[in-house]
Amino acid sequence: MAKRERFLSKMMENIRLPYEAKWEGPAAGGEFRNQVEEEYLHQIVDKTETNAVILDLACGDGRHTLRLAERVAEVVGLDLTRNSLVKAKKKCLVIDNVIFTHGSIFQLPFRPNTFDGIWFSEAFEYVPPDKRRTLLTSLNNVLKGTGILYMSVETWQNPSIITSLKRLWTDCKLFCYWKFIRRKPLLWGEFLYYSSVKRIDWSGWHYHVHTSKKTLCNLLEECGFTIEKMELSDECIYVLCRKASG
Ligand SMILES: C[S@@+](CC[C@H](N)C(=O)[O-])C[C@H]1O[C@@H](n2cnc3c(N)ncnc32)[C@H](O)[C@@H]1O
Repeated sequence: MAKRERFLSKMMENIRLPYEAKWEGPAAGGEFRNQVEEEYLHQIVDKTETNAVILDLACGDGRHTLRLAERVAEVVGLDLTRNSLVKAKKKCLVIDNVIFTHGSIFQLPFRPNTFDGIWFSEAFEYVPPDKRRTLLTSLNNVLKGTGILYMSVETWQNPSIITSLKRLWTDCKLFCYWKFIRRKPLLWGEFLYYSSVKRIDWSGWHYHVHTSKKTLCNLLEECGFTIEKMELSDECIYVLCRKASG
């Protein structure tokens, strides 16, 4: 248990490294990763009132924070990496309805029933399998009555079965290498992969977790969410769900 906790605290440091690398330039993939992501952003906004307050959880460089803030009353952006927050603040200088806060998704500094919606894009891959329930329960807690949660969740699954199997095989190889050869206390789904990002002049082993659709559905249900929409696209599961009433 202590070994696992020590490993996780090292991984939390590992996660920050590429994001702390200094780099001035446009967002890697533009404002939206793809059309699906853009559609979900419109949907979360359409499903909330005009006076809504939305949390952009793990907001990164603020590419979605700005788009959300153009459509709702207030947005709170939270991220662990100070460098990401500097970029996000710069991006949002043109608007005045955004507050940024430095913090961890695992220790949310918010009261219960604070947000009408939570936008959680491309960061669930940093949530270890044994921390998922606690995290999703805390998201449920900070959402108002029937508040709405969006997540994009990295997965080995793909609409094509062949691609799914290939990706699953890659995950298996990395998992086995780190678990059985490097003897790290990994849980299934976790792995480290070698990443080399030229534009930020960073390379190294980077921690990720992959989640299957079935696991995600079960987790959301157990943590008090009702799924409204879910689809698989571009190596991610996109999901919109509501805090279940009662
Ligand atoms: C791939 S980026 C996604 C950023 C943004 N949501 C987007 O879609 O562009 C992942 C972000 O998660 C943040 N992050 C990772 N672990 C975190 C944690 N424990 N608490 C808060 N933010 C975290 C990183 O700093 C990084 O900015």
